[in-house]
Amino acid sequence: MKTTNTINDYFNRPLRDLRISVTDKCNFRCTYCMPAEIFGPDYPFLKRNELLSYEEIERLTKIFVHSLGVQKIRITGGEPLMRKDLPNLINKIKQINGVCDIAMTTNGSLLPKHAQALKEAGLSRVSISLDSLNDEVFGKINGRGVTVKAVMDGIEAAAEVGLKVKINMVVKRGMNDHEIIPMAKYFREKGHILRFIEYMDVGNTNKWNLKDVYPKRQIIEDIDQIMPVEAIDPNYTGEVASRYRYIGSDAEIGVISSVSDAFCSTCNRARLSANGTLYTCLFASKGHDLRDPLRSKLSDEQLAEYLQTIWHGRKDRYSVERSESTTKRTKIEMSHIGG
Ligand code: GTP
Ligand code: 5AD
Ligand code: SF4
Ligand code: SF4
Repeated sequence: MKTTNTINDYFNRPLRDLRISVTDKCNFRCTYCMPAEIFGPDYPFLKRNELLSYEEIERLTKIFVHSLGVQKIRITGGEPLMRKDLPNLINKIKQINGVCDIAMTTNGSLLPKHAQALKEAGLSRVSISLDSLNDEVFGKINGRGVTVKAVMDGIEAAAEVGLKVKINMVVKRGMNDHEIIPMAKYFREKGHILRFIEYMDVGNTNKWNLKDVYPKRQIIEDIDQIMPVEAIDPNYTGEVASRYRYIGSDAEIGVISSVSDAFCSTCNRARLSANGTLYTCLFASKGHDLRDPLRSKLSDEQLAEYLQTIWHGRKDRYSVERSESTTKRTKIEMSHIGG
């Protein structure tokens, strides 16, 4: 197989970051992601034979790395730890020459049980979602009454085994904007980077309204009044979070402002859903099935060519277009592609 080709898309963006969803299931029912009234007991989650096997994911990942230029892998869900034997997959990905970074996005609740094995398998970093320090607020948001402590235990477990930890907080006006300062103070003290995520119009089920977005500018203003911050440079081209440092310290925060300040121009991410569909944008309405080609007799070279053609033709820049257009479209659910 050809080695590390970089393929640029229509807007000259390379592919560097592959986000792999391993399951569409989750043990939480966050109101902004998998509202309980829609994701109920009868919801048609993917069946086992519809999921890509770890061997299939490994094969595809190799092709993405060797023939398209992917360097970073992020495991997502749903909740990725709902899938059995995840360290086994991490271990396979770790062996692929050219993978520089393996991270995972998780709700943290199952980390006490799995952190050690994940670290040993080669996971470097975790982003753990936590939207409030208040049990009542958090229990309502996660839709299952899960306590803050359950997630904190996951954060502790990850840090203890040496995984690098970032915390993701989705901010929705009237839901948890009053928790911005307590969260900022707490995680500054703890030494974990906290990233505030603007509430986004992902999927079709969360009744998104622009009025509910608490924008980056306001988040930074709130924090700056209590703990002054200064903007700092991104760690790498295409980083989704804008970074800020508390003045006079090394501690930092990030804001992911997909709505008020889109970052599509540097977007180098592709998403693979648990059933093997490739999405070239978080807000895509259509993906490219890779499961059938994978299970047919196509060679690695033929698959590589197919993927290169897809990326080469990519024109996605939804967050930029959102502000330019009012037309509605049907989008993939967040729990299918993991954010
Ligand atoms: P780092 O590698 O640490 O920079 O992680 P990351 O920020 O890429 O990953 P993470 O899963 O923690 O991302 C946090 C959230 O940012 C995601 O869950 C999404 O909500 C949002 N996000 C990530 N990538 C994109 C993107 O390409 N477009 C948009 N609109 N949002 C994104
Ligand atoms: N808007 C912003 N962030 C979201 N997430 C899930 N749904 C939304 C939404 N509608 C976040 C989660 C987690 C990551 C997977 O995406 O909180 O941090
Ligand atoms: Fe589950 Fe994460 Fe979605 Fe919440 S945001 S329902 S924890 S996948
Ligand atoms: Fe990339 Fe689509 Fe997000 Fe823009 S909206 S940054 S193109 S994933």
